[in-house]
Amino acid sequence: MFYRPETGHGLPHNPFNAIIAPRPIGWISTRGAAGDNIAPYSFFNAVAYVPPQVMFASTGGKDDRKGTKDSVAQIIETGVFCVNIAGGDLRDAVNASSATLPAGTSEFDAAGITRAECQTIDCPRAADAAAALECRMTRILPLAGEANFAVFGVVTGIHIREDCLIDGRFDARPAGGWLARLGYRDFTAVQDVFEMERPK
Ligand SMILES: Cc1cc2nc3c(=O)[nH]c(=O)nc-3n(C[C@H](O)[C@H](O)[C@H](O)COP(=O)(O)O)c2cc1C
Repeated sequence: MFYRPETGHGLPHNPFNAIIAPRPIGWISTRGAAGDNIAPYSFFNAVAYVPPQVMFASTGGKDDRKGTKDSVAQIIETGVFCVNIAGGDLRDAVNASSATLPAGTSEFDAAGITRAECQTIDCPRAADAAAALECRMTRILPLAGEANFAVFGVVTGIHIREDCLIDGRFDARPAGGWLARLGYRDFTAVQDVFEMERPK
């Protein structure tokens, strides 16, 4: 089949998300005047090595956040955020933290997520995440459409869970594998890893 997004796919569910998959999940934690917040964003990736940089995109808004979501609103307020990388062992907490809660109601408390402090920024992080990237926001780009924003940040500190460091290599398998989003309501926790030599 072929379709143009503006004319519609005619399928029971939008296939777009399922085509670009699996997507890593940036579990974004922030601290603002309204309190501590954490939510999953699968429009997320690393975008540069030196200095290390990441991005995530927020789509849509909440009535109490003037055309965006809590995460972007708090990053605009403070200029910092933390990207927690959850393993499959935190899948339920990650999903629970996607609930749309009023600004000021913390998903850390609502979803029972253990909090720790970041070291280079004033921001909470998920203590049990396989890794966490402390970030200073560099730019927020409005994207085409309404309430679509890409948030970019430079990484200022990196936490790695001790059991996820094996022979000097980061490995999320002790944390239940790399948690990633597929389309629809599907997820995967990557356990199956193979190595390939790159051509010279
Ligand atoms: C696995 C997963 C991935 C998600 N990815 C995104 C995303 O990339 N962008 C987005 O705007 N919302 C995404 N959502 C929905 C947000 O997590 C949800 O709107 C949440 O309430 C936003 O929280 P906040 O207002 O505290 O930032 C995702 C939800 C789940 C469960």
